[in-house]
Amino acid sequence: MGAKRIGILTGGGDVPGLNSVIKTVVYRGSEIGCEVIGIRRGWEGLTHVNLQDPASRTRYVLPLNRENTRTIDRTGGTILHSSRTNPSKMKKLPPVLEGQDFPKSETTKNGVTSTVWDVSKAVLRNIQLLNLDYLIAIGGDDTLSYAAALDKVGMKVIAVPKTIDNDVRNTEYCIGFSTAITRAMDAIERQRTTVGSHERIGLFRVFGRDAGYTALYTAYVTSTRCCIPEFKVDLQSLIDMLVTEKAHNPSNYSLAILSEGAEWEGYQVKEYGDPDAFGHRKKMSVAEDLSNEIRAKTGEDTIVSDLTYDLRSGSADFVDRMVASTFAGMALDAIDEGKHGLMTAISDGCFSLVGIPDPKLGPRKVDVESMYNKERYRPRYDHKIGIPIFLTRA
Ligand code: F6P
Repeated sequence: MGAKRIGILTGGGDVPGLNSVIKTVVYRGSEIGCEVIGIRRGWEGLTHVNLQDPASRTRYVLPLNRENTRTIDRTGGTILHSSRTNPSKMKKLPPVLEGQDFPKSETTKNGVTSTVWDVSKAVLRNIQLLNLDYLIAIGGDDTLSYAAALDKVGMKVIAVPKTIDNDVRNTEYCIGFSTAITRAMDAIERQRTTVGSHERIGLFRVFGRDAGYTALYTAYVTSTRCCIPEFKVDLQSLIDMLVTEKAHNPSNYSLAILSEGAEWEGYQVKEYGDPDAFGHRKKMSVAEDLSNEIRAKTGEDTIVSDLTYDLRSGSADFVDRMVASTFAGMALDAIDEGKHGLMTAISDGCFSLVGIPDPKLGPRKVDVESMYNKERYRPRYDHKIGIPIFLTRA
């Protein structure tokens, strides 16, 4: 084992299972003689830290050991905290870097041009001062896009994919996805009685700004209709189906699940607030908009249930703990073998190490033809023999 000090950080939205990765890295690391240093608050930990200042050091650096990670896998979230920080496109220099010279460029998003700084030089300096040989970055496509960039400029990085959206390229599975679907499934099965008691059309909104996996797989296991960003449904057909299904249901209700980024023909989901470090603004509720359309067009009563953050909450299920611990073990094996620039993944249903996805390709999308019934607005259940366990190929 050449590498002795491993940094680990979590970026982007939290998911259940992150703490299992952290704990297993620490435990496995201690068995093969590695120190593990927690970098707190994602990439912010490497852009904002002032290593000379004890308070800043405490805020951003947490040495990990078996004692302080022993029980962390029992809860969701991340003990290291998280942030959406993009060191290659900082809109403002952190106080510790003010007055220093960094490459800057202009970016234009939605017609607004702003200056951004690439502070990778400071990130590398902090990594050097912390004496880190390796970095394990756990994140979704945004966080991992910087992991790929950092590896290219000389830091040895292993990426671990997590997101309840399951939309990181080059892997069929991201930590958090199974727990999110289990949570959504439980909530929907519970809420059927309240929707039915009031004879309503129930609309459930789940996360998934670019990809519809979360809505689609929840629909798959609850036998429900869904709308996903990859396919624009016809509004009138959708409403007709929901009204007809309600009338045929002895309990007089019907349900649909909507990805936050789902749209119908002629409709664009509205956004609000400032863009985050990766250019994303929050989306208004497509479910509320659909609810208004249904009420106006049919007079039917509707109810909207926003499941979004609840799907990220609570402790990880069996699948996420298993995948998280396995990805952690794989990351340590990779480090032990001197590999870097790679991501732990599931490919063709098997655990594997793959390239960190090219950020230019954007998030992975649902294959509409094989997975979505474009006439019935439902998941497809046919032709699954030979398909990997998570029903998709990356
Ligand atoms: O990035 C994953 C995700 O689930 C997106 O689909 C969603 O827009 C986002 O998280 C919301 O998270 P937050 O409000 O914490 O930024």
